[in-house]
Amino acid sequence: MIRKISAEETYPVRQEVLRPRRPLKECFFEGDLEEETFHLGYFHRQKLVAVATYVARKNELFKAPFQYQLRGMAVLPSFRGKDLGTKLLLEGEKLLKKKNQQILLWFNARETAIGFYEKHGYKTSGTPFMIPNVCMHIVMYKNPTEL
Ligand SMILES: CC(C)(COP(=O)(O)OP(=O)(O)OC[C@H]1O[C@@H](n2cnc3c(N)ncnc32)[C@H](O)[C@@H]1OP(=O)(O)O)[C@@H](O)C(=O)NCCC(=O)NCCS
Repeated sequence: MIRKISAEETYPVRQEVLRPRRPLKECFFEGDLEEETFHLGYFHRQKLVAVATYVARKNELFKAPFQYQLRGMAVLPSFRGKDLGTKLLLEGEKLLKKKNQQILLWFNARETAIGFYEKHGYKTSGTPFMIPNVCMHIVMYKNPTEL
């Protein structure tokens, strides 16, 4: 039910969940088309209902030489609470580990989603900050040995 998808396929789900009432062009994220980036989609009866993107990107907060950033984690509202977010996160972790055992995974988490990531062993770093036109976020991460 999970497979790799293109950047373009993620946009309608990103738009509905993360950028409602905003133009589709705001659903393009920097790094989307880079060779090392991969996008995962969860399909329910051929319909794409959840997406997540993994971009090779360093954050200066961390010393780890190999880092990936999780972006655009989004589950359509009627499919939430059914473990789909968990499945996309675990699949991403598995693929990153296969690439390189030393990858640190980090992301800018919406404050409203901190609890979801904490359940999966992620920790916050630093202080919350505002992403303009979106909402408050905080950096979260998991060390390679914990992935
Ligand atoms: C956050 C999100 C990705 C979680 O996906 P999901 O498929 O609904 O979550 P799961 O069903 O896999 O939940 C796993 C666990 O996390 C908990 N959880 C889910 N969302 C949560 C949240 N926002 N806050 C706290 N806990 C949460 C669930 O209750 C569940 O707990 P349990 O194992 O004790 O039952 C999804 O709700 C979503 O797309 N939200 C809106 C967009 C968003 O905030 N994206 C993240 C941007 S950083």
